[in-house]
Amino acid sequence: MSTSRATMIEFDNVHKYYGDYHALRGISARINGGEFFSLLGPSGCGKTTLLRTIAGFEDISSGAVMIDGRHMENVPANKRPTNMVFQSYAIFPHLSVAENVGFGLRRDPRSRAEKARAVEEALEMVGLKGYGARAAHALSGGQRQRVALARALILKPKVLLLDEPLSALDRKIREQMQVELIKLQREVGITFVLVTHDQEEALVMSDRIAVMFEGEIAQLADPETLYRRPNSRRVAEFIGVMNFLPCQVTGEAGGHIQLEVAGLGQVEIEPAQAPGVTRGGPASVGMRPETLTILYEGQQAGGREAPGVVEEVVYYGDMTYYDVRLDGLDHSVRISMRNVFGRPVLDIGTRTRVAWSPGALVLFR
Ligand SMILES: Nc1ncnc2c1ncn2[C@@H]1O[C@H](COP(=O)(O)OP(=O)(O)OP(=O)(O)O)[C@@H](O)[C@H]1O
Ligand SMILES: [Mg+2]
Repeated sequence: MSTSRATMIEFDNVHKYYGDYHALRGISARINGGEFFSLLGPSGCGKTTLLRTIAGFEDISSGAVMIDGRHMENVPANKRPTNMVFQSYAIFPHLSVAENVGFGLRRDPRSRAEKARAVEEALEMVGLKGYGARAAHALSGGQRQRVALARALILKPKVLLLDEPLSALDRKIREQMQVELIKLQREVGITFVLVTHDQEEALVMSDRIAVMFEGEIAQLADPETLYRRPNSRRVAEFIGVMNFLPCQVTGEAGGHIQLEVAGLGQVEIEPAQAPGVTRGGPASVGMRPETLTILYEGQQAGGREAPGVVEEVVYYGDMTYYDVRLDGLDHSVRISMRNVFGRPVLDIGTRTRVAWSPGALVLFR
C-alpha cells in the first residue's frame, strides 16, 4: 500500500495527435507517490501512448505532464526520474544476467565492487540471487522478465513504468509474478504505473485504476469502487461480468430512486447506486453474479426473492455458474455459487428461487 501521498505524476488536459488521429483526448489525472497505478482498457485505447508521455518517448500535442512537481516539457527521456519495463523483455541474450542488470551503471562513478553489490541486491529483490553468472539466453521467460525488472530497479527511479510486462508469460507464472510485483512495489516504495488490458490483473495488483476508452479516462477509482460502482454501462461490461435488466425510473421519494425492474418488480435504491442518472424514463440495472443467490428448498431469502428456471449450468469445481431465466424476463441472468460439500448442483430445467438485494444494484442509462 502507498506510503507517500504527495502527487508524483500529474496529467493536465493532455492531448496527443498522430497526424489527424486523436490518440489522447484531454487526459487529466494525478498519480500519488508510492502508488501502484494501472492504466486499463481495450487494445488501441491509448494506454501505451499515455505511458510513453510519462517516460518522454512521446511528445504531447497540448496540455502538461508533471513529475514530482516538475514540468516535463523539454526534459528528454534520459533526464526523467523514470524507467520503463517493456512487454518483450528487451534483455541482451549474449550478456550474462549480471551484465544485463548492471548495464545502466556503465557510467556510474562507483567502484566495481560497489556496482557488483548493487547488482547482487537487485537480483535478490527479484528472486534471482545467485544467477548473475548465467548467460541471459539460458533463462525462462519469467526469469528474463525478472532480469528486465532488476535492470530497471537498479537505477532507483522514482517511477517505474511497466507496459504489459507479464502478458507474454503463461497463466501460472503470470499469477506468481503478479504477487511478487506487488510485494516488490511495497518493499521499494517506488511509484509503479502498469499498463494492462487484463481487468483481473488490474484488480488484483492496483491501488487505483484508470479505465480508458478511445483516448479518454472513463473512470478512475480503487478496484472495489470500479467493480461495485462502475459509473457507466461500458465500464461495468469491461470489468468482470454484469447482468443487465431493463427498467423504468418511476420516481423519487425521501431521497430514494424508485424503479420498476423487469423480473424483479418495484425497487428503491440510493442515489449513489445511480451515478449519472438524473431523470426518469427507461434505463437498466446491473447486478453482479455473486450478488444473486440460488435458494435451496426450505431456505429463506432474508431479503427479496424472484422465481425462475435454470437454463444453463457450468461447473468449475469450486464454483458453479447458473444461467437462470427469471419469470417475466426474456433472457437469463448469470449467478455464481460457491460449491459446498453435500449440496447438489442443480440440473437444467429446475425451478428455483433467486435471492437478491436492492443494495447491490447499479443503475445505468
Ligand atoms: N506512432 C504512431 N503513429 C500513428 N498512430 C499511432 C502511433 N502509435 C499509436 N498509434 C495509434 O494510437 C492509438 C493508441 O495506441 P496505443 O499503442 O497507445 O494503444 P494501447 O492502448 O496501448 O493498445 P494495446 O493494448 O494494443 O497495446 C491506436 O489507435 C494506435 O494505432
Ligand atoms: Mg499498448
